[in-house]
Amino acid sequence: MRPASSQPSRIVARLFLAVGLPAAVVVVVLGALSWRTTRGAVEASLQRELAAATAVAAATINAANARQVLPEEQEESRTYKRVVARLKALASSTGSVRIMLVDAAERVRADSDGVLRIGDPAPRVALDRLEIRRALAGKAAVSVPFTGPDGHRYMAAYALVPEQSGSIDGEAVAAVRDDQRLVLAMEAPAAALDATFAVARTITILVVAAVLLVLLLAVVVARTITRPLLSLSNSAERLAAGDLREPLRVPNGDDEVSRLGTTLEAMRKALVDRDADRQMMLAGIAHEIRNPLGGMELFSGLLEEGVAELDDDNVGPGVKQELLEQTRRVKKELRYLTGVVNDFLAFAKDAPADRADVGEVDLRALLEDVRSLTARPDRAAIVVVVEDVVAFALDRNRIKQALLNLVENALQATPTEGSVTLRASVDDGALLLVVEDTGKGMDETTAKHAFTPFFTTKEKGSGLGLALVRKLARDQGGDARIESTPGRGTRVLLRLARL
Ligand SMILES: Nc1ncnc2c1ncn2[C@@H]1O[C@H](COP(=O)(O)OP(=O)(O)OP(=O)(O)O)[C@@H](O)[C@H]1O
Ligand SMILES: [Mg+2]
Repeated sequence: MRPASSQPSRIVARLFLAVGLPAAVVVVVLGALSWRTTRGAVEASLQRELAAATAVAAATINAANARQVLPEEQEESRTYKRVVARLKALASSTGSVRIMLVDAAERVRADSDGVLRIGDPAPRVALDRLEIRRALAGKAAVSVPFTGPDGHRYMAAYALVPEQSGSIDGEAVAAVRDDQRLVLAMEAPAAALDATFAVARTITILVVAAVLLVLLLAVVVARTITRPLLSLSNSAERLAAGDLREPLRVPNGDDEVSRLGTTLEAMRKALVDRDADRQMMLAGIAHEIRNPLGGMELFSGLLEEGVAELDDDNVGPGVKQELLEQTRRVKKELRYLTGVVNDFLAFAKDAPADRADVGEVDLRALLEDVRSLTARPDRAAIVVVVEDVVAFALDRNRIKQALLNLVENALQATPTEGSVTLRASVDDGALLLVVEDTGKGMDETTAKHAFTPFFTTKEKGSGLGLALVRKLARDQGGDARIESTPGRGTRVLLRLARL
């Protein structure tokens, strides 16, 4: 069985997954959606404004003038200076960082700072080739936002510079070929996008905080539910182990868990009552049997004496001997039956150790006593080992009875050349009594059921010995445990708390 504590933590994990995670996902998805929508709206509005401003600016440019200047004249040309001044004025009035005139071959014709060489490839436009094509086709186009070297966001808009009809310096202008057309490129800061990103950062922090809070709440709620469940499951485990003495701690309130606790407590009381009834009935029956058994033992003794006094001549040869044999067998069976009934009575008596029976017990004397009562030349040797402990507060009679049962079992399982060790030691404030043998050991089924009342593998066993041992140990706030290896031997450990 898994430890009880791991089960409620699985509930915590399940609640966490069922409630915390979906809530966290919803918060994140909502955050992401609102970010996309806001950003899309801001971008679209900026693109519209920038496209309009670029188209207006392009309309104010004289394309023929800009086209006229040759690269080698750039320094001296007054026309070029006028074009640059125009572009500069446009840049400052529209708040752009740079305005350029670019030809169809993506080469610079002029720029608002007057620093780019005529005929050089225009910076950035390679990225916006699509937008320039669109502008050349007469449609205003705006690039996707990009981040400038200063970390701010910018957008570039392109618009075709309209061709003027008429004349320049008195000369008629011929129709302009498509590949001679100019495009006005305007790079402007997207301050609204910067602001949107700043808001988004704040929102992200808030979303992360909200997700953590939701997850934390899920764990707290789950723990609030599972803590009383854990306590109940521990109590239920105690009940399952047969410990019915202590009342259950029922969680407060009127919820499902406290109802479960109330039901469990009612079940415990019902079990206690049923146990008491059963014990009373069993003890009653055993008692009723013990009295006539005593009489039968007495009369079989008298019968034996009577038979012994018979005259051989009167009853015929050999008959007296046979009668004697049979009366002895009856006596032996009666003695065995009395033993079983006595064991049974001891087992059925549900009296926790009585304070009056408890006293400091000299452990060496107790173990030696048990040895002298069980040792016989035709049985395995019994060794007594007492480590450090001198005396311990015990109900001497009960523990002696438990030890006698254990030594009896050990001797029955051990061949004459083997040995049985009786050991007493103190472990963590408790007394540890061990009966260890080098006998045949127990197989898995026997070890599993050895403490069950009436479980026996012996032809003439009641199966009450170990059940009684464990009861005696538990009555004294302790417990009994078996360690056994088939073919190697068995060790039964009694752990007893100080009374
Ligand atoms: N030391 C041991 N070595 C091997 N098997 C044991 C040992 N002690 C107990 N057992 C096994 O456990 C079973 C139950 O023991 P328990 O003392 O309860 O009953 P029992 O000895 O069969 O009967 P009773 O004690 O009434 O004579 C035994 O039948 C035996 O199979
Ligand atoms: Mg026994």
